[in-house]
Amino acid sequence: CGIVGVIGKEDTTEILLNGLEKLAYRGYDSAGIYVNSQSGRDYLVKEPGKISVLKAAVGPEVQGTIGVGHTRWATHGVASQANAHPHVSEDGRFYLVHNGVLTNYAELRATYLSQVNFASETDTEVAVQLIAYLAKTEQLSAKEAFRKALTLIEGSYAFVMIDRNDPETLYVAKNKSPLLIGVGADFNVVCSDALAMLNETKDFIEIHDREMVTLKKDKVEIEDLDGTFIHRDSYHVDMDASAAGKGTYPHYMLKEVDEQPAVMRRLLTEYVDDAGQMKIDPAILKAIDDADRIYIVAAGTSYHAGLIGQSLFEKLAEKPVEVHVASEFGYHMPILSKKPFFIFLTQSGETADSRQVLVQTNRLGYPSLTITNSQGSTLSREANYTLLLHAGPEIAVASTKAYTAQIAVELFLAVALGRHTAIKAAQDFDVNHELALVATGMETLLSEKQAIEDFTTMYLKTTRNAFYIGRGEDYALSLEAALKLKEISYIQAEGFAAGELKHGTIALIEDGTPVMAFLTDAKTIDHTRGNLQEVRARGAKTLTIVSEDHAQAGDQVVLPNVNPLLAPLLGIIPGQLIAYYASLQRGYDVDQPRNLAKSVTVE
Ligand code: G6P
Repeated sequence: CGIVGVIGKEDTTEILLNGLEKLAYRGYDSAGIYVNSQSGRDYLVKEPGKISVLKAAVGPEVQGTIGVGHTRWATHGVASQANAHPHVSEDGRFYLVHNGVLTNYAELRATYLSQVNFASETDTEVAVQLIAYLAKTEQLSAKEAFRKALTLIEGSYAFVMIDRNDPETLYVAKNKSPLLIGVGADFNVVCSDALAMLNETKDFIEIHDREMVTLKKDKVEIEDLDGTFIHRDSYHVDMDASAAGKGTYPHYMLKEVDEQPAVMRRLLTEYVDDAGQMKIDPAILKAIDDADRIYIVAAGTSYHAGLIGQSLFEKLAEKPVEVHVASEFGYHMPILSKKPFFIFLTQSGETADSRQVLVQTNRLGYPSLTITNSQGSTLSREANYTLLLHAGPEIAVASTKAYTAQIAVELFLAVALGRHTAIKAAQDFDVNHELALVATGMETLLSEKQAIEDFTTMYLKTTRNAFYIGRGEDYALSLEAALKLKEISYIQAEGFAAGELKHGTIALIEDGTPVMAFLTDAKTIDHTRGNLQEVRARGAKTLTIVSEDHAQAGDQVVLPNVNPLLAPLLGIIPGQLIAYYASLQRGYDVDQPRNLAKSVTVE
């Protein structure tokens, strides 16, 4: 699900296709472009499947000086050519691309569009037909029809529209879905992620919710839906387009897994000075200190990083923490403590489920911090404070380096907070030393991939299901390792509390079922080893992932010794690699697994 648009360039088609490729990592199942020569010729090409299919369908004649492109992740209607974007109004005048979900499309269709023949099953087509209807029946200009439609439409959207009768303008609007303007010399672009347009420009302008933008090749006009003009300066994105490349790696995921030691070291330079003091805005520490409880809200992998963060905050700062799944929390908010502080963990900074919680906590006046990899993202802008992950672009859909970066940033914050309130565990914690050991330990594990690949070939290549088990942080780790496996190998995998397995779920263990155990927590290792015996007795094939200090003869993956609080940073590496090899061996698309999107901007 990504949008690109450009006006004022000769190589429009190329820019659109390149931009779509850059956005491909976000997940999609069809793609399309509309290009207009501004002298009477125009082209609409869209195809289900990969961007390579679209590229093959785009002939050499498809050239122009204004255009839009779109990758679609199906919400309303299957992935087909008809449902792919751009959508066009029945009269052939307006071309529209859209990300998001319109909640009142059925009412709009019934109220205004009962006479219209629809070509697709999408909510987007309702929007473009509505614009055409308003232009025609109310004699409105393209811009006024667009504006009027926006006042009628409910839901989330990022829209870019072209009027075929007057192809001098890109009409742009957003609500809840990400969209940025990129500014150039005598050209302008629009995109859902700066990454898509870094080859064209590094200067971007934010668009806020319920604003619309009239974009000409030499003009950017932002206004609200009432017509009040808004001035907003551009900001410079300090990122090299090549940082988003794959280099010599066969897959982004493997590259990103291998980058983790470097990310740990980069984070040390960003957040810790030579004397071991944290470089974190004291206002953040004060705000958390003033609160009586931290609520961590997140989705997917970020939620799992939050579970590890919980024990870091509790042990190093003695602060009570609750961790919640964003999509649940927002609509079933528990009774909050008197003075809550919210931490939003989000790689992309755009997850709609997390954002709807932030909108509510802002309304309630509670302070918040977003920990994200994406500077300038929606959740970063809308929270009181931001801490960046500095992990570099994460392109593979399955999140790896962002997970370990999140844990590291939670560590910095927990230590800083603990020292701020004079907690001994934090005062004694030598962050520079401990995290440097983690980086080296990661390198050791990453240089021994063969053993993991062999285990995976033997036990995961054909299995129907698999389990990860552990207790405490090892349980949180199990959840993340199982999610990785599900995401890219499609094996039905479950992360389970080791002690709870015997209370029912053990019924699923049969001859050959792989059970992988994390053993890093001294208090519970013996019990978890006992649980491994139980499943082995029922035919399971087991793998032990154990800290060096606790390793016994026969253990298979030994994690170099690090501070036990940081063991998850090493433990997850074999989990990531098992998922990677399982996906490869089963012949799947590692970086762009089916059904998934990198950044899910719908609730
Ligand atoms: C999507 C991705 C997951 C990710 C989750 C949360 O579902 O496929 O990999 O963990 O969103 O994303 P965020 O950007 O908020 O961390």
